[in-house]
Amino acid sequence: MTTLRPTHLETHLPQLRKNLEAIRARVQPARVMVVLKANAYGHGVHGVAPFIAPFADFIGVATLEEGIHMRAMLADKPILVMGGTLPEQIPFFARHNLTLTASSLDLLRAASQYAESTGQRIHAHLKIDTGMERVGVRDTEAEPFILEAAQSNHLEIEGIYSHYANSDASDLTHARLQLERFNEVLRLYEKHSLPTPALRHISNSGGILQLPEGNFDMVRAGIMFYGVYPSLEAARTVDVRPAAVWRSRVAYSKVTPPGRPISYGSLWTAEGPTRIVTIPCGYADGYFRRMTNQARVLVNGKSYPQVGRVCMDQFMVNMGDDAAELGDPVTLLGEGIDAYELAEWAGTNAYEVLTNISARVPRVFVE
Ligand SMILES: Cc1ncc(COP(=O)(O)O)c(C=O)c1O
Repeated sequence: MTTLRPTHLETHLPQLRKNLEAIRARVQPARVMVVLKANAYGHGVHGVAPFIAPFADFIGVATLEEGIHMRAMLADKPILVMGGTLPEQIPFFARHNLTLTASSLDLLRAASQYAESTGQRIHAHLKIDTGMERVGVRDTEAEPFILEAAQSNHLEIEGIYSHYANSDASDLTHARLQLERFNEVLRLYEKHSLPTPALRHISNSGGILQLPEGNFDMVRAGIMFYGVYPSLEAARTVDVRPAAVWRSRVAYSKVTPPGRPISYGSLWTAEGPTRIVTIPCGYADGYFRRMTNQARVLVNGKSYPQVGRVCMDQFMVNMGDDAAELGDPVTLLGEGIDAYELAEWAGTNAYEVLTNISARVPRVFVE
């Protein structure tokens, strides 16, 4: 716990390693891409990336900027930038040896022309949209895309991939349709007597858990790697455990008399004298304002309700008749409080809870 900021997120690195190995055991011989976008799903990419890279086959990030940051930490690992890319960003892929997601014919051509004119190699994975409608060439339009990619002498087309929209659902109809469309696209290689790119991949966490027939050559493990299941209904076919604990400490303690409402908007008032403690963490840290009067935290290991509106930098907790000292330990997430509970209190999902823990919260790594 740092004295400067008595609130931090603690990531247990050995647990991340265990999660990765559990995923690997499930999907082998397929390789595992570890998805480290969005500050390693909030866990702190500067600690997670160097620790896990030796055990990962590939690293996935969302943006070029994340890719450049990643390359500065990891000299040799292949890094796939999965998001949409602008043509003017192409030179950076060559310069930082990042793998481009070729998500349109235009981008493919622009990358190929850049590589040719500069004599540089650009690594790329072709992106097929089988039913997410986000980025990628639709399966129905994939044939000319694949043929043109196969003719490019200046790009290293190492992979071809797609992304599921609903692989974490209990109804897998749409995911199976996407898988079938992806297989149809792959059959085009056979039709044209072309070698398929070495890395075919479509599975995210939901796919890893529920659609082993879609493992292909690699899977992309995001939220599961952090020990959080992608949804409450997805089958839990791999045993992974959360690696993060969000901790704080009591920064103020008092007994509030009845009739004195707590915090902005006066949304909660005690019926009798009650101990109210103040926690130095708020919505600017990612402790959502929507959780007002709904969340629970542990103080000294015991569960208490959050009361009064969550402020930007602080929130209050009702400890009833219990005693509390300044500096007493508080747990906001972990140790029995899971990301799904926070998600329910905030009206969102576990992904948003984790990735919204803001940069102001120091990250601490336990080896
Ligand atoms: C293209 C792509 N692949 C893989 C992932 C990882 O997904 P998940 O966290 O559900 O495993 C994501 C995350 O959204 C993604 O955008």
